[in-house]
Amino acid sequence: MKYIGKKVKRIDGAAKVQGTARYAADYYFHNMLYGAVVYANKPHGILKKIDTTEAEKLPGVVYVATYKDVPGSNKFGIVTKDMNFLVPEGDKVRFEGDVIALVAAETPEIAQKAAELVKFEIEDLPPVLTIDEALKDDPVVNGKTNVAFHRKIRKGDVSKAFKEADLIIEMDFETGYQEHAYLEPQGAVAFYTPEDILEIYVTAQCPFYVQEDVASILNLPLNKINVIQTETGGGFGGKEDVPSYIAAKPALLSYLTKRPVKIIYTREMDIKETSKRHPSKSKYKVAFKKDGTLIAVETSVYLDMGAYSTLSPIVMYRTTIHSCGAYKVPNVYVDVYAIYTNKVPCGAFRGFGSPQVLFAMEAIMDEAAKKLGIDPYEIRYKNALDINEETATGHKLVSSVGAKKTLERVYKMSDYLNLKEKVEKYNKSNTYKKLGLGWSHIFYGVSLGSGGQHLDGAGAKVHVHSDGTINVMIGNTEMGQGAKTTMAIIAAEVLGQDVSKIHVMQPQTLVVQDSGPTVASRTTVFSGNAVKIAAEKIKSNMKTFLSNYFGVGHNEIVFENGKCYIRDKIFSFDEIATLCNNNNVKLVEMGWFETPKLHFDHENGIGEAYVTYTFSTQLSLVEVDLLTGKIQLKEAWVCHDIGKVINYDGAVGQVHGGVVQGMGYAVMEEIKMNNGQIITNNFNNYLIPTVKDVPENIHVDFVEDMYPEGPFGAKGLGEPSLMSSPPSVANAVSHALGKRIRKIPIAMEDII
Ligand code: MTE
Ligand code: MOS
Repeated sequence: MKYIGKKVKRIDGAAKVQGTARYAADYYFHNMLYGAVVYANKPHGILKKIDTTEAEKLPGVVYVATYKDVPGSNKFGIVTKDMNFLVPEGDKVRFEGDVIALVAAETPEIAQKAAELVKFEIEDLPPVLTIDEALKDDPVVNGKTNVAFHRKIRKGDVSKAFKEADLIIEMDFETGYQEHAYLEPQGAVAFYTPEDILEIYVTAQCPFYVQEDVASILNLPLNKINVIQTETGGGFGGKEDVPSYIAAKPALLSYLTKRPVKIIYTREMDIKETSKRHPSKSKYKVAFKKDGTLIAVETSVYLDMGAYSTLSPIVMYRTTIHSCGAYKVPNVYVDVYAIYTNKVPCGAFRGFGSPQVLFAMEAIMDEAAKKLGIDPYEIRYKNALDINEETATGHKLVSSVGAKKTLERVYKMSDYLNLKEKVEKYNKSNTYKKLGLGWSHIFYGVSLGSGGQHLDGAGAKVHVHSDGTINVMIGNTEMGQGAKTTMAIIAAEVLGQDVSKIHVMQPQTLVVQDSGPTVASRTTVFSGNAVKIAAEKIKSNMKTFLSNYFGVGHNEIVFENGKCYIRDKIFSFDEIATLCNNNNVKLVEMGWFETPKLHFDHENGIGEAYVTYTFSTQLSLVEVDLLTGKIQLKEAWVCHDIGKVINYDGAVGQVHGGVVQGMGYAVMEEIKMNNGQIITNNFNNYLIPTVKDVPENIHVDFVEDMYPEGPFGAKGLGEPSLMSSPPSVANAVSHALGKRIRKIPIAMEDII
């Protein structure tokens, strides 16, 4: 391999560091208007009346739009259309961020002022603010019942297993919200091109979702809507479905005024209106044999969806599949419920419903180890998956199961036995400061899984120009995770052209086919394969021509290192591109990759849940100050089996970021509410880790247990890089205290 797995300069790095990269807010158009949003600011009630007359009178206001101005469907919802785009009179307000009206004006200041002049009346209803209140179904927030969705796994015989168990652990857990805290807030600009195409520039993970949703709101055909993803300053799942609600606003205003319209959210709007990680409550009962063998898991998990279901039915599928951890479990009885409340709708967040249950399951593994007198490493190793073994859903794994190797590597890398001894020694001689070590061993299903196969395809367009430079466009997006560089590396490896000559473009929905959402850590596998397929087609077109032209066999032509070797001659790739172009060789190709088909019984939750799984192990060392409650992550050792490392620096970066974001979830970040309204609405009171909280050493290693369907054997890393962290850090804190903490975030108050 010339480029795969090597250190390669990040292709979008310089522009981002130098400040020349253009984010949504950096787009300006002639004659552009600015939009503002009118919020309900009440958790529950009936919207009696909207009055826009005062707002319309303000000089500089061009349009005030309400539900009456929506030409198409006024509804949103990926699975269930249970959310209004603009709340109609007579309908319900279900959380503070419900939108009543939109304003378009000549300046952002006028738009904001006009938004404040829109009058409306809401007849209050009692708000439902917790899972426990919601379960009473009085009042019902949305639809027919607050317990809107249910998923389950039924495998083996749990009651028999509990009878045969040597140890049963029963525990309840709670997890809180997490805000994505992408540095670039949501925003979009919409305008009509001279060809009458509605062009939308939007910071987003899934431009095709935006295209479809705007088409439905405006009742326009898809071929009249070009969604162009702008450089995106972080998504973390928060820009999966949400940008549809964001972009539809300037799109509607542009449709009504026929002028360009821009809306860039303030942080306060963003935190108020847009999705978070689901809070959860869970109850676990887990059975072990004396030697640590896991024999049964029974659990009920409740996820707080907030006012609208959005992606919850898909998120809870992942909760279900990951609820037993990364282990062999013969007897399984799992129920997961998603519940409506009068709060912000929750949706996708790195890990997608799995961090909540992995935290619980990994806490139980530690408790079991303690009670049975086994080391936490050993109990995980004993139950870890191996080739030809079955996951909790009965998915037999026939390739790429590097689970145990990740455990072994972390054990060695951390010099575990000596480390453990050092920690014990330190704790004996210190009264108020304690060290703790925490293990986690997790897995993550890469791809959209058995329920999302209709969306699990991805396209790529590769274009070799006559000077040898190359454009690549994929239908998935770069949002900071390094996908552009990964795609360039794959194209470079196939075509033998230098990475520096490859430009990966921002996706446009009128250029590439719907490639599904950029989620589920699927980009490397799906878009990576699509790029590889397209590049291979071009290479084969070139070789066919060259073998005729030079009278040599295909195998005598080698593309490598920016050169083309033809028997005993050497050309630059650029010269060969010119030659091919001048001889009518086809140098543009589309690649398409679709998921290998999965078999899954959705009634019992049994079968092949995802196309492949990434396996991960983390060991964390924390220091806890017993007097102040301060927790510090001092060091972490992490190993992921990702099949094959494509973009080495990108992969290490994902792990560094994931460890820190996961640590924030476990011990720092907390959404506080007052009567359903978020009061931690900016980063002065919603605290995320900063550089000062980052441990000096995060040791990263990778296992490469090839996934045969992946490009060059690769799987995904985007989300597992976060997922190993919360259980590991939380377990380390509990270890330091000698007491189990059953909630995250672990606040200083909890320690005290
Ligand atoms: N890394 C950065 N820097 N920024 C992000 O927004 N999103 C995460 C992860 N890593 C994210 C990130 C999420 S939620 C997903 S699903 C994956 O990246 C998506 O990218 P991939 O498919 O290339 O792994
Ligand atoms: Mo990631 S939560 O799948 O966008």
